[in-house]
Amino acid sequence: MPKLNLSQVLRPTEKAYTLPPACYVDEEILAFEHERLFAGGWVSAGRAMDLAHPGDYLAFTVANTPLIAARGDDNRLRVFANTCRHRGMRLVQAGRGQCRQFVCPFHAWCYRLDGSLSAAPRMDGADGFDSADFGLVEVRSEERAGFLFVNVDAQAPTLDDWLGDFEKVHEPWRLGSLVTASQRDFTVDCNWKLFIEVFNEYYHLRKVHPNTFSAFYANPDPVDETRGAFVSQFGEHTRRGSVGVLEESGSGLNALPGLSGRLADGTRYTWVYPGLTFAASRDAVWALEALPISVSTTAVRLSLLFDSASASMPDFEKILERYEHRMAVGMDEDIVVLEAQQLGLQSRLARAGRICPELEPSIHVFHRWYADQLIGAGIGTT
Ligand code: FES
Ligand SMILES: [Fe+2]
Repeated sequence: MPKLNLSQVLRPTEKAYTLPPACYVDEEILAFEHERLFAGGWVSAGRAMDLAHPGDYLAFTVANTPLIAARGDDNRLRVFANTCRHRGMRLVQAGRGQCRQFVCPFHAWCYRLDGSLSAAPRMDGADGFDSADFGLVEVRSEERAGFLFVNVDAQAPTLDDWLGDFEKVHEPWRLGSLVTASQRDFTVDCNWKLFIEVFNEYYHLRKVHPNTFSAFYANPDPVDETRGAFVSQFGEHTRRGSVGVLEESGSGLNALPGLSGRLADGTRYTWVYPGLTFAASRDAVWALEALPISVSTTAVRLSLLFDSASASMPDFEKILERYEHRMAVGMDEDIVVLEAQQLGLQSRLARAGRICPELEPSIHVFHRWYADQLIGAGIGTT
């Protein structure tokens, strides 16, 4: 692969170009992303409280590495390789479940919820075989702000170094205490970066969401100056009340308990690299986790988070439907342009474009971080 010259990406926002189109279509770039960003970084595996009870588990894949997150009888959440220690069978299918132990479907080796091997039938004849040597391989995992973060290759800096001042920036939203009210998994035919980029820019609102919610948003604040592998931008609303429900649907919920002043009438859009993004709004948080399936296909999990007092209101189910409807409508409007954007970028004639400094600064902050990773891996030059 030819080296990518990224000097135009690293300029100040007012002079910056977008990433080269190859970053959205090239197989070797995707291999780099799996290796450096997803295996080499901290990736969100969803909300820790969605695995609340001993035996709750979630099987998922990061950077071609099948994993299981499971809560043990000691109430600890751990993340293991979803690979049997006998001859390598994937232990459990992707998705959520609840079990007392993991039993391999091939030759029935059994693993406890803490990963240790509890049974290996007919292995008495194997000289020196000690089940203590054959527990599931555990990977680093930690909970922050209610999200379970994992790092599969053990090379990443500590999670605190990775997140920098993330927790301080988001303190008023009390993310750690929010509960998941609704969750949806789907795939989109575009590169994972395009999917997250559109969520973090205000430029497309008028053209793509003209009749739904573009008028809810005032011009955003400048992007925050932060430390860590994330970008964040706050913006006030033009309307009082929720921007998480459409006008004709009825009203939304009250503001989250920690918010006051302009925070109670605005939304903070944040992208935690590589694959987690969310809108922390006045009354709810909608979170998206995106993982690449191929250069042009992305697996997405959308979660709607609320504070527990709102979620236990008697008419909450009815109100939740309004939030789900608004998210579905907005997502459909975005997906139409994202899939067409992917097709445009796949053209041999595609070229890098320019950033809108006022309405796309978060994208540029991400592009600079991404360019630094490419340069660090010897794929990019300046
Ligand atoms: S591969 Fe799992 S028990 Fe044989
Ligand atoms: Fe959008």
